[in-house]
Amino acid sequence: MIGIIFGPPGSGKGTQAAKIEKEFDLKHLSTGDILRSEVASGSPTGKEAGRIMAAGDLVPDELIVDIVRMRLPEAEAGRGVLLDGFPRTERQAQALDAMLADEGHRVDFVIALEVPEPELVDRLLHRAKVEGRADDTRKAITERMHEYHKLTEAVLDHYRRQGVPVQLVDGRGAPDEVFERIRQAIGISSR
Ligand code: AP5
Ligand code: MG
Repeated sequence: MIGIIFGPPGSGKGTQAAKIEKEFDLKHLSTGDILRSEVASGSPTGKEAGRIMAAGDLVPDELIVDIVRMRLPEAEAGRGVLLDGFPRTERQAQALDAMLADEGHRVDFVIALEVPEPELVDRLLHRAKVEGRADDTRKAITERMHEYHKLTEAVLDHYRRQGVPVQLVDGRGAPDEVFERIRQAIGISSR
């Protein structure tokens, strides 16, 4: 099973992915987490990516697709995979579809979290105080929202056109309440 947890910055992708991973025995693959560990390693790729991420922009498609191409076979080999933060552009979606088709697989479901923008901003500014993530500044948050609307939202239509079940889930309320909605939505998608 290949699933995508989708949504704007701060919508709860990472929070919910941890719960989905456990309940549905999927391997969580977060391109944001992978990039942040590259940044922490101080590698040349990490340095370049770190500058782009701190500004709230998207790193180049080729870099992200290479990262996923390296990790997907191992993740796919065992359990299913839950993608978080990928694909984020139409080109990434096409590249993912091609990678999966090579293995005779396809995206089985997309769960798209919906949270009003003022609440997203509040969540991220709150996290800035607790965790200090480099891109949780007001300026970078604005840019991340802009990139989401400009490039990422279109990925939903990409999958709708292909007949992949895209379930919109209300991302407001307590994390466990949101998870209960997701659990039901995945149940419907995999019927
Ligand atoms: P990425 O790491 O994917 O960040 P993001 O999409 O901006 O989203 P976040 O991780 O900030 O939020 P989330 O939706 O995971 O929510 P979370 O559970 O953390 O990407 C970062 C950057 O990397 C990108 O900007 C880009 O530069 C680069 N990048 C990554 N992938 C890329 C790709 N494919 N292509 C190109 N570039 C890429 O929750 C947020 C906060 O809210 C937390 O503090 C959490 O505790 C809290 N919270 C969660 N749920 C709730 C709730 N129900 N109620 C109240 N608070 C909640
Ligand atoms: Mg995240």
